[in-house]
Amino acid sequence: MTVAGSLLHGMKEVEVWLQTFAPGSRTSIHRHSCEVVFIVLKGSGTLILASSSHGPNPGKPQELPIFSNSTFHIPVNDVHQVNTCGTILNW
Ligand SMILES: *[C@@H]1O[C@H](CO)[C@@H](O)[C@H](O)[C@H]1NC(C)=O
Repeated sequence: MTVAGSLLHGMKEVEVWLQTFAPGSRTSIHRHSCEVVFIVLKGSGTLILASSSHGPNPGKPQELPIFSNSTFHIPVNDVHQVNTCGTILNW
């Protein structure tokens, strides 16, 4: 659900989404041309983040635990995946 978006609300630099992940699901491995802030309301999972993946030496992806009330941010263009499986899949 788009809470505040460019088309619906005329936002130019920021969009706010409310998103629910089913247990055992995962996003694609992807990146955004903007920063991303997650505020986890409920549940647990894993954020897999390849810091500075747009640079010449992306390094090994980090596995970061996601849990209720946790927050985290992803820098511009850093490749990432959110999953509720608890393990890295398809990297
Ligand atoms: C998350 O924060 C809310 C509000 O402070 C609190 O009611 C809830 O118990 C917290 N949940 C966990 C799992 O800590």
